[in-house]
Amino acid sequence: MGKGSGKLPALQTVMLKRILGKSGYQVSEVGFGAWQIGADWGEEVSRESANEALQAAVNAGMNFIDTADVYGGGRSEEIVGAFIRECEEKLYVATKMGRATEEWNSGYDEVARAAEASCERLGVDSLDLVQLHCIPEETLHAGQVFESLEKVKQRGLIKQYGVSVETIDEGLFCIANSEAVSLQVIFNIFRQRVISDLLPVAMENQVGIIARVPLASGLLSGRFARGHEFGENDHRSFNCDGQLFNVGETFAGVPFADGVDLAGQVSDLLDEECSEASLAQKSLRWVLDHEAVSTVIPGAKNASQSSENANVSGISPLSEQAHSDLRRLYDAQIDSRVRGRY
Ligand SMILES: NC(=O)c1ccc[n+]([C@@H]2O[C@H](COP(=O)([O-])OP(=O)(O)OC[C@H]3O[C@@H](n4cnc5c(N)ncnc54)[C@H](OP(=O)(O)O)[C@@H]3O)[C@@H](O)[C@H]2O)c1
Repeated sequence: MGKGSGKLPALQTVMLKRILGKSGYQVSEVGFGAWQIGADWGEEVSRESANEALQAAVNAGMNFIDTADVYGGGRSEEIVGAFIRECEEKLYVATKMGRATEEWNSGYDEVARAAEASCERLGVDSLDLVQLHCIPEETLHAGQVFESLEKVKQRGLIKQYGVSVETIDEGLFCIANSEAVSLQVIFNIFRQRVISDLLPVAMENQVGIIARVPLASGLLSGRFARGHEFGENDHRSFNCDGQLFNVGETFAGVPFADGVDLAGQVSDLLDEECSEASLAQKSLRWVLDHEAVSTVIPGAKNASQSSENANVSGISPLSEQAHSDLRRLYDAQIDSRVRGRY
């Protein structure tokens, strides 16, 4: 199950589009997470594999890529930039800023400089969407960053802006106090609080939801056993307990060994659902079954993962029974194990 073995389920190739909040962009409901093709996920993904992964997703109808200026120190943006220049389809690229230096100050000059640098790496004159990259809560609250973004938008360097947040409260703050068109949040079977506490408000305010870490860093593919060892340059090793950055970004904040057992329980509960689909696909389908989600952005390292993920758009929604079983599992056994800011 999971990591593309070449034996993909014979699912209908279909890619539905959804509107990304007030931007009006029609984005594929399955996008492409491009952190992996930058760095931090073990052995470096070759440019060839990265291009194949992107091409396989485009072939399946994907038109939305999520990257950041810091992924591999710009490597991810450069690879994405080279790819979109060659691609005949219109692809929306969402990048991020705000974590390049400790001193990032959110003033106009800083925001403009970051936007120019991303434009250069991506080879574009204007960014489709730039997202604040989990910047400190006090910087969000100070509000200056939104004034800077507005000015840079007026200058034409960015078309739209959104915010990638760590907590539900940060998301609610951005909805109430900014013109952000989208929020990027950790949303998966291991992180269900978002359903009641954020999604309805986002929908009501036409703020698009970009669902990140949808596979809990791969746990929800069911391919890992307890004791699995990740490479030392893989954040699933060096940040497994939040040693370097928010623990939620690694395994969605669930301790790895617990996550392996819980993924097994999820697999059992979904056994009868979409018999041709892998657990990774069912987990992504679960995310898409929430209509407030504009796009889910699983990270992929190769063509078989990215096409398997893109094909989720062609899978039928999970049953109500499956959703309520997973909710019960979450309430009883998962919520209390999620560590970190939430
Ligand atoms: N702060 C932020 O704004 C932030 C933080 C985190 C992520 N993101 C964005 O969100 C994207 C997605 O999150 P994520 O990459 O952290 O986590 P994720 O999507 O939950 O997990 C990605 C990992 O799952 C495995 N995988 C992917 N497709 C698979 C398939 N079909 N079958 C089996 N395994 C599969 C791969 O593991 P292997 O590597 O073991 O093959 C892959 O590296 C990132 O790429 C990035 O663009 C943003």
